[in-house]
Amino acid sequence: MMSETAPERLGPMASSEDGEVEMCQAILPCHANHLGELSAGQLLKWIDTTACLAAERHAGVPCVTASVDDILFEETVRVGQIINIKAKVNRAFNTSMEVGVQVSVQDIYTGTQKCVCIAFSTFVGKPAGNEKVHLKPIKLWTVKDQMEYGLAAERRRIRLCHDNIFHNLIQDTHIIDGIACGKNSNAMTTDRSCVKSIELVLPPHANHHGNTFGGQIMAWMENIATVAASRFCCNHPILKSVDMFMFRGPSFIGDRLVFKAVVNNTFQKSLEVGVRVEAYNCEEWNKGKPRHINSAFLIYNSVNNKGDLMIFPSVEPTSKDDLRRFQGAIARRRIRLARKYILTHKEERSLSVDWDKTNQAYLSYTNVVNLTMLAAKSDWEIISSMDRIKAFVCEENDILSVMVEMKVKKRPEQAFLLLSDLQLRPSWDRHYLSCEVVETVDEDEQIYHITCPPAGDDMMKDFVMLMSRRQPLKVGDPYILALTSVTLASVPPLPKYLRCETRCAGFLIYSDGPRNCKVSYYNQVTSNILPYIAGNLTGWSKSMEETASSCIQFLESSCE
Ligand code: COA
Ligand code: ADP
Repeated sequence: MMSETAPERLGPMASSEDGEVEMCQAILPCHANHLGELSAGQLLKWIDTTACLAAERHAGVPCVTASVDDILFEETVRVGQIINIKAKVNRAFNTSMEVGVQVSVQDIYTGTQKCVCIAFSTFVGKPAGNEKVHLKPIKLWTVKDQMEYGLAAERRRIRLCHDNIFHNLIQDTHIIDGIACGKNSNAMTTDRSCVKSIELVLPPHANHHGNTFGGQIMAWMENIATVAASRFCCNHPILKSVDMFMFRGPSFIGDRLVFKAVVNNTFQKSLEVGVRVEAYNCEEWNKGKPRHINSAFLIYNSVNNKGDLMIFPSVEPTSKDDLRRFQGAIARRRIRLARKYILTHKEERSLSVDWDKTNQAYLSYTNVVNLTMLAAKSDWEIISSMDRIKAFVCEENDILSVMVEMKVKKRPEQAFLLLSDLQLRPSWDRHYLSCEVVETVDEDEQIYHITCPPAGDDMMKDFVMLMSRRQPLKVGDPYILALTSVTLASVPPLPKYLRCETRCAGFLIYSDGPRNCKVSYYNQVTSNILPYIAGNLTGWSKSMEETASSCIQFLESSCE
C-alpha cells in the first residue's frame, strides 16, 4: 500500500502546486486488452499527457517529450478499477525539466491504493519560433520536494551519459566472454518474431502545433513490441518494464511512421524486444530517406497454464545485426539493473537481530542456511569473466545478489583458515579499513567490528558482523564462512561512522583438484553496500574483480 502520510512542510501554508497536475481515469473495456487488463500503451499515453501538462504549467510554453526513463510496472490494472496519475516538475534545468509521475490504482470497494509505476520524463520547452526558453526554477516547499530536486540532478547525469555507458559496456570483452558461457543446444533464432507496421499521424495524435504526442508514439511502439514478443513465445506476453525512451527528433501530422520490432535476447524468464521508429513525410516517402525518431527496448515475461513464469529458450544470433542486438540487450540489462537499484533508494527496515545468548544458536543457524540458500539459486547470470575470476548477479523479489568466483592454487582447508580470520581482510580488501574481534562466542562463531572507507558520500561506515564457520561434513561439501549483521549493546553506533548492515554475505570454498580450490564470495546487496559495487553494475569500474584478484594473491602468497 502506498504511504498516506502528508509530506513534511517547510513553511506553514506552503503549497507546491506550480508544475503539479493530477489525472484520474476509470478503466473501461476500450482501454484494456482481451484479458481485461489495462493496456500498457494506453497507460504510457496518459502518463505522457499528464507529465506534459505539468511541464507546460511550469514552463508557460508548449513542451515536447525529450525522454522517459526506465519504467517498471509493479501492478496489473483491470477494467473497473480507477487509476490516479500525479505529475510534478521535480527540477527545471535550462530549457529542459524533469517531471516525476506516480501512477496508483485504487480498489473501489476498500479504497486501498497500490503503486502501479513511477516514471521520470524530461520535457523541453519549445516557444513559437526558434527562440530558446529559459525556465524559471521550481519552488521547493516540502522536504520531499528538496529530495527529488537533488535526485533529479543525479538522474539527469545518468540519463545524459546513457549512450557513453552503453558503448563502454558493449566494448567490454568480458561481456562477450559471458555470452559464450550462455550458449546451449536449445538456442533459437528470432526471425519469427520480426514485425513491421505503419501508422499515419492524424490530428488526434498530435498537439495543437502539429507535433505528434510522445505518448502516442510510445503506445504504438508498445503495441508492435507486444506482437513481436507473442510471436516468439507463442503465448500472451506481459510487459514488465520499458527501457529509456529517447525522442531523437520531432514528428508531425501527416508523417508516415514505420515501426520495426524483433526479439533481441532472452534472459531465462524475461525477453527483450527492440523497436525502431522512422518517419517519412509525403515527399520523403518515395525517396526512402527516413528520420530516425526513436528506438526503444521493452522487457516481457509470460506465464504458462500452471501460472508459473515461462522459461524462454536462449537466442542464437544468425547475422551481424542479430549479434549486435543480442550483445546490446545484455549491456542494457546491466544498465537497467544498476539504475533500478541505484536510483530507486528504497527504504530498508533494520536487518540486524540483537545478539544474545538465548538466540545464539538460531542466529548462527540462519546465518549459515541463508548463505547456503543464496549459493543454491539457479538464476545466477554472468556479468564478467576474466582469467580466473567470474562475476555473477542474481535478482529475486527485488533483492540483488552478487557472486564472485575465484580459482585459487591453494588447498581448500588452507584457504578456509586464511579467510576465517577476518582481521587479515584489510590486508587484501581495500573496502575494509579495520577489523577487530569484539566477541568470541565459540571456536566457530565470532563477532567483528569492521570499519570501511566512504563510498558515494563523505561518511566512513561501520558494521557489526557475526561470522559463522563450518567445515564440510562429507566429501564434496564446501567450507562455509557466513556473515550477517547483528546488534551488540557493547558496540553502539558512533557519530564518526554511519552504521551499516549486511543481510547475507560470505564465502563457500570447494576443493578443485588435489592442491586447488574454488572460492565463491556472495553478497546480498543492501543500500549500504550498493555504493561499493555500483560502478561494477554499470560497467565503469572493475572493483569487484580487482578485490578478487587481490584475494587470490593473498591466499596464494600466504605460507602453508
Ligand atoms: N534526455 C533528457 N534530456 C535531453 C535529452 C535526453 N535524451 N537530449 C537532450 N536533452 C536536453 C538537454 O540536456 C538540454 O537540456 P537543458 O537546456 O536544460 O540543459 C535540452 O534537452 C536541449 O538540448 P539541446 O542539445 O539544445 O537540443 P537538441 O538539439 O539535442 O534537442 C530535443 C533535444 C529533445 C528538443 C530534440 O531531440 C527533439 O526535438 N526531439 C523530439 C521531441 C518530440 O517531438 N517529442 C515528441 C514525440 S516525437
Ligand atoms: P540496434 O539495431 O543497434 O539495436 P536500432 O535503433 O537500429 O539499433 O534498432 C532498435 C531495435 O529495433 C533493434 O534492436 C531491433 O530490435 C529493432 N529493429 C531495428 N531494425 C529492425 C528490422 N529491420 N526488423 C526488425 N526489427 C528491427
